[in-house]
Amino acid sequence: MIVLGIETSCDETAAAVVTDCGSPRILADRIRSQTDEHRPYGGIVPEIAARAHLEALDPLIIGALAESGIGFADLDGVAFTGGPGLIGGVIVGTMAAKAIALVHGLPLVAVNHLEGHALTARLTDDIAFPYLLLLVSGGHCQLLIVEGVGRYVRLGTTTDDAAGEAFDKSAKLLGLGYPGGPLIERAARGGDAARFDLPRPMKGRPGCDLSFSGLKTAIRQTVERLTRHGDPLAPQDVTDLAAGLQAAIGDSLVDRTANAIALFRARHLEGTTLVVAGGVAANAALRERLAGLAAAHGMAFVAPPLALCTDNAAMIAWAGLERLRLGLTDDLAFAPRPRWPLDPDAVPVRGAGVKA
Ligand code: KG4
Ligand code: ZN
Repeated sequence: MIVLGIETSCDETAAAVVTDCGSPRILADRIRSQTDEHRPYGGIVPEIAARAHLEALDPLIIGALAESGIGFADLDGVAFTGGPGLIGGVIVGTMAAKAIALVHGLPLVAVNHLEGHALTARLTDDIAFPYLLLLVSGGHCQLLIVEGVGRYVRLGTTTDDAAGEAFDKSAKLLGLGYPGGPLIERAARGGDAARFDLPRPMKGRPGCDLSFSGLKTAIRQTVERLTRHGDPLAPQDVTDLAAGLQAAIGDSLVDRTANAIALFRARHLEGTTLVVAGGVAANAALRERLAGLAAAHGMAFVAPPLALCTDNAAMIAWAGLERLRLGLTDDLAFAPRPRWPLDPDAVPVRGAGVKA
């Protein structure tokens, strides 16, 4: 099969073509980031995002098909992010996919953005179900058992901010700019992670839920203390705080993932793989720690290449292809979804800033 994928749920406009002929392969993977448009505001502005998607999407689709050496008639289906996400952007992608499907008589597949992240490891590493997934991005932070396409068991989720938000908001407090994750990672190099006493939210508690807002508050209070006489933060302060934050987030994630491994093993004796996905999975220090955790439990560790950790359309095309293989398609009446939990049976979590 050959499938076109469209991603417009956040601040990247992307189009890609993937195939499962032979082995899973990406034929083209085009992306246009809107970071420059949003940077002056220190975060994503939904209205700017929607307009930018509208302008960027068509040329990306045409470019992805040209790079793949195929036309619309060669496709077996068109997949798009149907949610969750910023609704203006999701509408842009949905309308483009519907138009293509209608005009070219192609099957249409609405993909949950989170399922795109969740199934990426099957595109890159061809791994079998079931596996344990730590999904850590700017909008989501969850531990899930991936049992099959469309079959997820949520073991834990954040009760406030996502890990990526903790990176982004703290980076803003440290004056590092946006998006924060990569800037914190760079700033943390050579820093003394133990200099400031930062909390490890949820560490040592039973279960797999996560929390990061307390960490952000601790960073804010530390910055306020260091700058109380009107002096700006010294470069060494920024470096040490960035290192401390990265270590604290790592400690929390490792602690919660260790609990999730126990629950995963109790349910699936045959399960042997830990997968990390989402933008925060681009963090090298975090990948190293999770690889160590997996090894300590005799598990294989899979982290997709950096470009497939952050938002992209190859993951949407691939999830669409997997759904198509099972005959799971959608019709033109599909309505874009701002919220779309992967595990509808999971107990809702309440707390400030909870999104899913
Ligand atoms: O998956 P993604 O591209 O978009 C969402 O679906 O949210 O994730 C973006 C998030 C941002 O919060 C960004 O700061 C974070 O991933 N991120 C990182 C790194 N690269 C991106 N966080 C920590 N370290 C990184 N190297
Ligand atoms: Zn994402």
